[in-house]
Amino acid sequence: MTVAERTGTVSHFIGGDEVPSASGRTFPAIDPSTGAEIAQVAFGEAEDVDRAVAAGRAAFESGAWSRAAPGHRATVLRRLADLIRADAERIGRIESMDTGKPIAQATAEVNVAADFVTYFAGHAELPNGRTYPADAGYFVYTVREPYGVVGAISPWNYPFLLACWKTAPALAVGNSVVLKMAEQTPLSTAELGRLTLEAGMPAGVFNVVHGDGPTTGAALVAHPQVKKLTFTGSTATGQAILRSAADHIKSVHLELGGKTPNIVFGDADMEQAIAGSLFTAFYNTGQICTSGSRLLVQRKDSDRVIEAFVERARGIRVGDPGDSTSQLGPLVSEEQFQRVTGYIEEGRRGGARLALGGGRPQVPVAGGYYVEPTIFVDVTPDMRIAREEIFGPVLSVLTFDDEDEAVRIANDVMYGLAATIWTTDLGRAFRVAQKIDAGIIWTNCPHYLPVNVPYEGHKMSGLGEDLGVEALQTFTHLKTHCVNFNGARMAWA
Ligand code: NAI
Ligand code: MG
Repeated sequence: MTVAERTGTVSHFIGGDEVPSASGRTFPAIDPSTGAEIAQVAFGEAEDVDRAVAAGRAAFESGAWSRAAPGHRATVLRRLADLIRADAERIGRIESMDTGKPIAQATAEVNVAADFVTYFAGHAELPNGRTYPADAGYFVYTVREPYGVVGAISPWNYPFLLACWKTAPALAVGNSVVLKMAEQTPLSTAELGRLTLEAGMPAGVFNVVHGDGPTTGAALVAHPQVKKLTFTGSTATGQAILRSAADHIKSVHLELGGKTPNIVFGDADMEQAIAGSLFTAFYNTGQICTSGSRLLVQRKDSDRVIEAFVERARGIRVGDPGDSTSQLGPLVSEEQFQRVTGYIEEGRRGGARLALGGGRPQVPVAGGYYVEPTIFVDVTPDMRIAREEIFGPVLSVLTFDDEDEAVRIANDVMYGLAATIWTTDLGRAFRVAQKIDAGIIWTNCPHYLPVNVPYEGHKMSGLGEDLGVEALQTFTHLKTHCVNFNGARMAWA
């Protein structure tokens, strides 16, 4: 059963109720494997966003969640995680249909989302302040308090997972949340509201408003009662959010784009490096902010490595997301299809050589937004396909002579989100990791990110710490209390 079959039209989730837009306006949800419409979704405008923020604020002020016993918040979130797990197959099916992700992958992500919720439940009970040395008769301590209403804006590449990743740490420490899902993938998260109520979260603590960026997202960003924003998406939109946030001096957390270098040194375990590089380049159809979209190979063995790599990439099974043998589904939308094929055209025109793909694969259903796994060789660092985030199954292969040149190429882009190093020389791993300006470095393990591990984008890839105990800082602000407990008089006049 799809969400649309259950509810007719997919609604916002505001104050514990499924509600349509005040204007009655809706927009279509699309299955990218066919291009067909699968549901109509409420389109939120300023009035709907305002209603959701007011619900969040009222719940916050009531104290039913914000001042609940820490153990209670932890218990409710753990229950929520269990409910998500129990429903993972159904939510995974919805996610697969809405995003084009292969079904097994989509379901696995729902379970990972539940793991994030379980982990962050524990944050409700962690220490959240310090005491400071002070004069005799004085006592000084800090507490980290929730902001109130947190606005969360999420992209389409990991809809359900990111919805949980962004909101669970905010909720654990007592905030209310208004979440705006990406307009390309609203369906899976529409299930989350109901589950929060079932878990025992008070109505109004968790709210979802659907709609696009310029109307719905912008209204949430501009709302004066939203004091904290957390956003994952493109660098350009992150910049627009930061500008708008200046009007009310909001705290903004941003996780933005990347152009992750995946560096294969000559001393790497080649079998491991080739399999891992294939995974980081193409998994999720290349739609990951940390995708290893630049493969850097040592020039002396580049022919051999590239040949083996292309051969392996030929074996990737592109196909219907509903088929359990498919490894790669379509891109998420027609717009992304145009964008990615535009970059392929740009690579060709710019002088790079196509070693694999570049077109539409043979798939059973016509009309989907499929692109073949595509590999460009003879790429130079100045080409646009070596510098800009493509966000599709398009890999740019560059070569280097030595460690210094590899580091120089790796750092020579505006992004600094992640990097992967393949080597068996541990000295080299630490040396190179120190010199690369990125928020997370993986040696022989791209995308390794257990639930308790934090990261933060460098350069144009982000602002503020994400995940781990660091999230406690991200979703609270500091209050300092200085107490004079011995009657000392202030020495003035
Ligand atoms: P986007 O960054 O514009 O969209 C992400 C989210 O932001 C969506 O929920 C959207 O509705 C919202 N949004 C857009 N404009 C907004 C505004 N002015 N105010 C508030 N919210 C706004 O990304 P888009 O257009 O979907 O994709 C374009 C490119 O962005 C991709 O090709 C990729 O390079 C990059 N991207 C990066 C992601 C990442 O994980 N770092 C995720 C998605 C996209
Ligand atoms: Mg969709």
